Amino acid sequence: MSYTSTINIPQFQQDLINWFEKEQRELPWRENKDPYRVWVSEIMLQQTKVDTVIPYFQNFMHQFPTLEALAGAEEQQVLKAWEGLGYYSRARNLQSAVQEVVAEYDAKIPNTPEQLGALKGVGPYTKGAILSIAFDKPEPAVDGNVMRVLSRILRIEEDIAKAKTRKTFEAAVKELISEENPSAFNQALMELGALVCTPKSPSCLLCPVQQHCLAYQAGVEQTLPVKNKKTKQSTKSYFALVLEDEEGRYVLEQRPAQGLLAQLWQFPMVDQTEVDKRHLEVYIQERFQTEVNQITELQPVKHVFSHLTWHLQVLHVKIQSDLQLPERMHLLTMEELDAYPLPVSHQNIYKQL
Ligand code: ADE
Repeated sequence: MSYTSTINIPQFQQDLINWFEKEQRELPWRENKDPYRVWVSEIMLQQTKVDTVIPYFQNFMHQFPTLEALAGAEEQQVLKAWEGLGYYSRARNLQSAVQEVVAEYDAKIPNTPEQLGALKGVGPYTKGAILSIAFDKPEPAVDGNVMRVLSRILRIEEDIAKAKTRKTFEAAVKELISEENPSAFNQALMELGALVCTPKSPSCLLCPVQQHCLAYQAGVEQTLPVKNKKTKQSTKSYFALVLEDEEGRYVLEQRPAQGLLAQLWQFPMVDQTEVDKRHLEVYIQERFQTEVNQITELQPVKHVFSHLTWHLQVLHVKIQSDLQLPERMHLLTMEELDAYPLPVSHQNIYKQL
C-alpha cells in the first residue's frame, strides 16, 4: 500500500491550489517565473526564513540582475552580498554553477533533471523547485517544510532527520502532484507549511486540506513529523585578535577555501587550546614580526552555528606599523575593510571598534 492510496487526489490538488491562488504571499521571487530568479531565491531560502531572505534577494538581483552579471562578478563581491545570510558555500556554489551555465549552455538554464542536477550546489530539492516553479514540470521539491506538511497529511512516521526518508516523500509527491499546475502545487505545499501547517501548533481549523489530513483525523498532528534528535552541539574557544597598527589599520585574514565560512575574512583567530593567554604577546610578536604596544580586552562574542558554538575572547592589540604580513592576510583601513565579507561574529567585533 502506498501512502497516498486513501487520498482523493484530484480533490486534494484542487483544494490546495485554490487556497494558494487566493492566499499566497506576494514575494519578490514570485513576480515572474524567470528561472534565474527562482534559482537564486531557492538557494537563499534553504535554511533561511523568508523575512530574512527578502532584502538579500532584492539587493542581490539589483547587483547581479542576470546570470551573466553573476558569472562575471568577483567572488568577494558575491560573498559580500551574502554577508549575514550564512552557509556561504551556497553563494560560492551558485556562482560556479552560473558560470557553468554561461560556458556550457549559452547562458540558458537547462530544464532537464539530469543537466540541472549536475550543476554545483543544485541538489534534489533545488532541482525540483526550479523544474516545477520555473519550467512547470511535475517534479517533487521536498525540503523540511514539505516533509512536515506531508508527514501530517499522509501520516508518515519515518524519521525526517534520516537522509533516505526524503525519497519516501518524493515518491508521494510524484503521486499527488498536479500535472496541470506543478508550479502552484509545489509552492502551495511550501506556503501551507509556512502559513498554516507550522512546526508548533498548526492552524488545522484554517487548513484548506484539513478534510484530507490523516494526522488531523487521528488527532496526532502535533506528534508529526518524527525527527530524532540531532547530534549534540560542540563548542570552540578562540582569541580573536584585533591587530591595529599605528596608522589605524587593521589586520584581516582570509579563511581557508574549504570548510566553515570558507573564503570569508576575519580578525585573526587563535585556538585557545593551542596558545595560552600568557603567551599571546610572544605569539603575536613571532607570528607578525612586530612589537606589541598594548593589549586591551573588548566584549566577548558568542556565535551559534548549526552544530558548533564559537566563544570569542576579543583582544584589541596595538602593534607597530612595521609588521610582516603572513599569507592570506591584509592590512586595511576601516574604509577598505567595508568591502570585505565578514562572518556575523566578526561583524560584531567590527561594530565595537
Ligand atoms: N521556501 C522555499 N522555497 C520557497 C518559496 N518559493 N516561497 C516561499 N517559501 C519558500
